[in-house]
Amino acid sequence: MRVAGLTRLAPIRRQVKRAERGANVTNIRGLQIRRLEPSDAALFRDIRLEGLQRNPEAFGSTFEKESALPLSWFEAVLGRTAIFGAFMEETLGGVAAYAAQEGTKQAHRATLWGMYVRDTARNLGLGKKLVAAVLDHARGRVEMVQLTVVSENEGARRLYSAAGFVEYGYEKRGLKHDGRYYDHVLMVKFLDED
Ligand SMILES: CC(C)(COP(=O)(O)OP(=O)(O)OC[C@H]1O[C@@H](n2cnc3c(N)ncnc32)[C@H](O)[C@@H]1OP(=O)(O)O)[C@@H](O)C(=O)NCCC(=O)NCCS
Repeated sequence: MRVAGLTRLAPIRRQVKRAERGANVTNIRGLQIRRLEPSDAALFRDIRLEGLQRNPEAFGSTFEKESALPLSWFEAVLGRTAIFGAFMEETLGGVAAYAAQEGTKQAHRATLWGMYVRDTARNLGLGKKLVAAVLDHARGRVEMVQLTVVSENEGARRLYSAAGFVEYGYEKRGLKHDGRYYDHVLMVKFLDED
């Protein structure tokens, strides 16, 4: 599958790096974190499939499954789920999703899932801002946000720890991909501890 949007991010990456040396990334011209709408389905599909293809171990779903789904499926997901996107000059550089648990006794919990930042937009602070957007959305709705991360994914674990998530469990062989097992670290952030 052809991956769109990567080369278009190069000048923005330089702009962010320049700004990082002397300013806050929030002030970067053209950087916007916002909730995706059904009309963003094509952009969302593109980045979601890229993530599933490039980092299959980071997701529970698969490229094979989701690449076969129609655009209307992605529209429906965006219609019922809070998914946040990091836009740089209208290019979608990263996404992160929020899902509240269903059921009266689990309604105080939500999950952060689908976290992905394109290769060319990494280490610029987009992941940090996307996690912050999910947590902002969660405040006032739930009491805690949980997530699962592959134990070997040290970058993501550090990102979540920096945002206040703590490890509360370890799921050995939580995921099996291409005949290989990956252990899962379970993390939680209690919002009343902010
Ligand atoms: C993990 C991921 C989302 C990080 O996104 P990002 O935009 O590059 O992250 P940020 O630039 O916001 O980094 C924020 C913090 O995370 C940590 N971090 C992120 N990537 C890191 C890496 N490769 N190595 C070490 N620490 C890393 C650092 O603590 C960093 O803070 P610092 O720059 O002040 O040290 C991105 O690498 C990615 O999409 N990976 C593939 C998919 C994936 O693993 N998703 C997570 C599934 S649970």
